Amino acid sequence: MKGKRYWSYAAALVTLAAIATWTIRALESAANPPPPAQSPQAAQKVMPQYDKNGALLLPEDYRRWVMIGASLGMSYSEAPPAHDMFAHTLMEPTAYRHFVETGTFREGTMFALLLQGPGDQVLPARRGRFANEVHGVEMAVKDSSHVPEGWAYYGFGGMGGIRSTATAQPKNSCFSCHAEHAARDHVFLQFYPLLTEAAAGSKGR
Ligand code: HEC
Repeated sequence: MKGKRYWSYAAALVTLAAIATWTIRALESAANPPPPAQSPQAAQKVMPQYDKNGALLLPEDYRRWVMIGASLGMSYSEAPPAHDMFAHTLMEPTAYRHFVETGTFREGTMFALLLQGPGDQVLPARRGRFANEVHGVEMAVKDSSHVPEGWAYYGFGGMGGIRSTATAQPKNSCFSCHAEHAARDHVFLQFYPLLTEAAAGSKGR
């Protein structure tokens, strides 16, 4: 009889201990939930892609990038151009997010400059001009693993057709002016008030 009671006490204790352990585990996991799975967007970092000869591939989705600035008829030379061109600067979205949060252009940052001729006289417009045919697609890419100076510049053609790859332009045809005159890290931030404003308004800065 005595022995039987001992065993039922022991069984009750074991059960209580099991319940207690289970409760503590349940409480612990409620207090420290597992880290949320990183959203695919946060993990993603789009980088420039090259072919086997080192030519830059024109990203397929560049026209869906973030528009950070537009200009009309800006010219780098004294001679007036035949006609004013519209220029839109687009920025790869993951590098855009990085710049807005940190104020820096990370390795792999890509810009596209889309040059368009002026169109007019299309009904119902009676005056004014709009950005019409694409005359040129250019890119600026920050990639120190590709060129020692960090930034490289590429032209993909325009009116005669847009090529899918381009080799880096010689340093003195593009790089020098960007290095000398651009407001921040070779980028013409002085012409991109939308980008400056987006970065200044971010809590990350
Ligand atoms: C004499 C100065 C000068 C030279 C040379 C020059 N650029 Fe630029 N670039 C500018 C200016 C100014 C802007 C500002 C945007 C605009 O023109 O609308 C700019 C903007 C750009 C942008 C947008 C990103 C950024 O850095 O602001 C790209 C891409 C670009 N240029 C490519 C080129 C390429 C490719 C060449 C050579 C074929 C070149 N540039 C030569 C002055 C220059």
